[in-house]
Amino acid sequence: MKIFTYSEKETKILGKMIGSFVQKQGINVIALYGEMGTGKTVLTKGIASAFGIEEKDIASSSFVIVSHYPEANFYHIDLYRLDNVKEEDIDLWEYFELGTCVIEWAQSINELPENALKITIDLVDETTRVFEMEI
Ligand SMILES: Nc1ncnc2c1ncn2[C@@H]1O[C@H](COP(=O)(O)OP(=O)(O)OP(=O)(O)O)[C@@H](O)[C@H]1O
Ligand SMILES: [Mg+2]
Repeated sequence: MKIFTYSEKETKILGKMIGSFVQKQGINVIALYGEMGTGKTVLTKGIASAFGIEEKDIASSSFVIVSHYPEANFYHIDLYRLDNVKEEDIDLWEYFELGTCVIEWAQSINELPENALKITIDLVDETTRVFEMEI
């Protein structure tokens, strides 16, 4: 399924819809693929808002690998610069069992849970993004 958004605001709305969807479906891993500046963090803010997390609290720092929001049992994981995630370094599967995980730069992960929602974001032009979703 492909969805286009034409502004940051629309991407946040799409994220919120995705957040409600995954809650209803019992999906707890959302893997985001896409180059720098495509909108992974903007989409994450929208997803997090469905969990009652304020968007200002979602950081876009790539220095932090895992941000935990205990009030919502929500994990924002950013694997930027990590080539192949080694199980001994961070045990992602442990997080997958603990709560809802949104992962930026998910291409580093070899294996995802079966029901993970995979979203690939491409930049069309300055303000247009296309989101391709697959379960
Ligand atoms: N339709 C759109 N959806 C989302 N963001 C958009 C859109 N149009 C323009 N933008 C801009 O694109 C940028 C997306 O930044 P964002 O930090 O979300 O990217 P990212 O994929 O997380 O990058 P990084 O890989 O560096 O973490 C923002 O500056 C945002 O304002
Ligand atoms: Mg980001």
